[in-house]
Order: sequence, then C-alpha cells, then structure tokens
Amino acid sequence: MKLPPIPLRPKINEGLDINDEELNAEAHRLMSRIGQKMRWSYDACRNIAPLTFRINQLKEQEDVIIIAHTYQTPDIVYGVADAVGDSYTLSKIARDAPQSTILFSSVRFMAETAKILSPQKKVIHPSPEAGCSLSEGIAASDVRALKASYPGVPVACYINTTAAVKAECDVCVTSSNYLGIAEKLPGDEVIFVPDRLMGLHLKKHLEGRKTVYLHDADCEVHAAFSSDSIHRQRREAEKRGLQLKVLAHPECDSEVLEASDFVGSSERILTEAKKLGVQDGVAVMMITECGTAERAIAESEAPIELMGSCSMCRHMKRTHLEDILQAIESPTGDQIVEIEDSIIQRARVSLDQMFALSDA
Ligand code: 13P
Ligand code: SF4
Repeated sequence: MKLPPIPLRPKINEGLDINDEELNAEAHRLMSRIGQKMRWSYDACRNIAPLTFRINQLKEQEDVIIIAHTYQTPDIVYGVADAVGDSYTLSKIARDAPQSTILFSSVRFMAETAKILSPQKKVIHPSPEAGCSLSEGIAASDVRALKASYPGVPVACYINTTAAVKAECDVCVTSSNYLGIAEKLPGDEVIFVPDRLMGLHLKKHLEGRKTVYLHDADCEVHAAFSSDSIHRQRREAEKRGLQLKVLAHPECDSEVLEASDFVGSSERILTEAKKLGVQDGVAVMMITECGTAERAIAESEAPIELMGSCSMCRHMKRTHLEDILQAIESPTGDQIVEIEDSIIQRARVSLDQMFALSDA
C-alpha cells in the first residue's frame, strides 16, 4: 500500500530549548512509536523532535489535553496526542477531560463538538480553515426545510455537521452508532442528514421497518472509492494465495459497501485490521483515509499485509506540529472555538441524546 509522503520540513530545532541527549531520546521515542523505520527514519524523527518535545512540555505547563482524530499524521498521533480515535470516542473524551484546555487536532466540526460538550473549557482548533465536505454540505435552513416537509419525523444528524445544524436535530449519530440509534427512534420514519451514502446504507438496514428521508451531501474522500479496485485486489490476492478481507467506512457508496467484508467507523476498521493482520495468509484492504492504515501499521502486533491504496483527506491533513505549537503558545482569535450559548444548549441536547441511545 502506498502511504502519503512524510511532510518535508526545514531544520526546526533553532530557537527551541532542547539539548542533544533529549533530542536523541525524543527521536528514538518517535521512531519506535510511529513504527515505520523506513519512512519515519531516525533523521526524520530527529528533525521533528524539538517540536514534539516542546509541545509536550507546554501541555503539562498549561493544563492542555491534545485530542487527535485518527486521520491526523503519525507525528501528531504518536508524537503529541493524549487521545486518538474516531469521532464518537473523541467526543466522550472531550466531554470528560479534566484539563482546563482542549486542543483538538482535526477538522472544525470536531473541535466545535468538543466546545458544545465542554463549554466551560477553552477549546483550541489549530486549523480553523480545516473543513469537511459533509459539514459544509448542509445548513441549518436545510434541516428546517426537511422538518417542514416531514413534520413530527425525528431528525438524526451525523456528527460531521456544524453546531448550528446539530441544534436543529433530535439526535446526533456517528459512524459507529447510526444504525443502532436510528432503529431506536420512535415511529416508522426518520430524517437522516447530511450523508446521502451513509443514509442509503441506513435505508437498506431499515428496509421494511422505517422510511428514511435523506439530504444530498457526501464525503469527498470516501465517495471517490470504487468497487472496481476491490474486485481487482481480490483477483490479485487470489493469485498470491492470500485471503483478502476488505474493510470499508460507511461514507462509501453502496457498491463499495456491498463488495466489502466489514463496514465500520475508523476505529472499528482499525480494530478489525489489527485482528486480521496477525492471521497467516490474510491480507487486508482498508477503504478509507490513509491515517487508519498508518495506525494499523504502527499498532499491529505483527506486520500487516495491506493491499490497495488509501486516500488522503486534505482537510484533516491541514494541521501540522508547527500549527499545534503556535496555537498552544499564542492562539489567534479564530483558533479559539466560540459558539453562541443558545446554539450550544440546543446542540448539546442532540449529543446527550446520542450518548443515551448509543451502544457504541
Ligand atoms: P469516524 O468517526 O469513523 O472516525 O469518521 C469521521 C470522519 O470524518 C470519517 O471521514
Ligand atoms: Fe469530512 Fe470526508 Fe474528510 Fe472525514 S474524510 S473530514 S467526512 S471530508
């Protein structure tokens, strides 16, 4: 599997207070945690060591927790993050974190979700311009229009939405609980927004039990995968005498999901890959963002035979260690997440409802 190139940087230890012994120890720590000695060599790790070292010092001093989504780059995930996972896991961590400041290394809607769940805390988002094609694909007025068309029908919104959209919904869902939560909603109809492809998967799951009304937005990364590559890799695996297990994210289209062996959130795909990776004669194809593959490589107990290719989310990859350091040291106004109180209160209801109904 071809993974993204590691970010090239100029020499960056100037001005940062770290001696040679500390630099060497930090470079070794990074290299062993990232677990890709060819790509993340000693030199590459030594180059970023002053940054990770300084960020970790500041975290302690300033009472900051760094929460990072799985799709962040390995230098962030293994260098400075205190918690890594899918959007459901990270929401719970943001809600319960004892630290006074949360720095969310991810896209905007996830940082906004942290603010809704911990409004008393300072929430820092190092890359305010890091959006998401799903959260940008729907406005609060679209949800109000759907509610007017189907009065009284419960509205489930995917967590990949702005705070203003969440405020219009009855319950939030994530890729790890959308099927179970939609089943539990009262009545035989449900409005599901904004992901049409995930909505079609839900529709199929609820066939004959509930009518599902959808909006038309998609994830620019997952919607681009095609089932052709799965069939091609299955043929290739067969030739090599391997059994191929295909794991896909539910933001992919129906053909991809039908051709896959497992559908789940980024964290569930990772867990499954780590389980399969240790089995002899099994190859794994991960139909999702490259960050999940990078974690599978780093965290698997045995080398995983990965086939096919992953895709990068340009929004998720906007955040770099340099942005995190700058945002902890002196966040600009737009790096501090602020949301109107009335929106927080209404959006919080939909997130609390998710926690109450989720079995994830
Ligand atoms: P997960 O909750 O599965 O991590 O999904 C978030 C996301 O943005 C997937 O593209
Ligand atoms: Fe949004 Fe897709 Fe990127 Fe996830 S991968 S943040 S859904 S654009």
